Amino acid sequence: MRIPIIAGNWKMNMTISQGIDLVNKIKDITLKTDVEVVVCTPFTALMDIKRAIGDTKLKLAAQNMHWEEGGAYTGEVSPVMLKDIGIDYVILGHSERRQYFGESDDDVNKKVKSAIKYNIRPIICVGETLEEREQGQAEEKVKSQILKALDGVEKKDTADVVIAYEPIWAIGTGKTASSKDANNMIAYIRNIIMEKYGDEAFDKVRIQYGGSVKPGNATEIINQPDIDGALVGGASLKADDFIKIINF
Ligand code: 13P
Repeated sequence: MRIPIIAGNWKMNMTISQGIDLVNKIKDITLKTDVEVVVCTPFTALMDIKRAIGDTKLKLAAQNMHWEEGGAYTGEVSPVMLKDIGIDYVILGHSERRQYFGESDDDVNKKVKSAIKYNIRPIICVGETLEEREQGQAEEKVKSQILKALDGVEKKDTADVVIAYEPIWAIGTGKTASSKDANNMIAYIRNIIMEKYGDEAFDKVRIQYGGSVKPGNATEIINQPDIDGALVGGASLKADDFIKIINF
């Protein structure tokens, strides 16, 4: 039985005090259903948010990470530093990082392997552009991103891997994939995992949907048979909206 995972990706939003305020509103709420809830904060807020989370069940994630444990990489943050704060997850290969900061599949792969090495669970983002979808290349694109991201990742580590299917055309646009299309792509991704790693990984790897998830569509999306939760951007910045989503 896979526990759904709902993660709020704050992106480049929230000062420390705003973040603490938000976390204080969500950390103690009673969940309707068994669900893992994660906040993915900017680096600057991680330490204070970790303290604000305290001993509640809320989990903490970074939004990016370098693959090296240290060295001359000005402006980067290493897995050792993130582990020192006590984060649980790290988002890797978000389409905004691929698009605006030139992250390649190879970079994402190095980051994934490094996260696993340092016991940080990766949330690996994949997804096609509108053009790729219209040209019937969505599955091919997603398959290639997944196989490259997981190259060299061992079967024993797959239970800790989360994949987020985020069609790029649905991010921040108010357009969501239909719940059926999202479910189909996620079932397809699960089959890629099955082909690469076999039955056990097929059962354990959690695959989220992301892209304009809001209180009004979360229930339908997350209740699809193959979808194991959501990666939420804009709607995770407002406590009321995020609470509705995690109580889907
Ligand atoms: P929105 O929910 O704002 O569309 O963002 C989705 C996303 O990119 C989450 O990582």
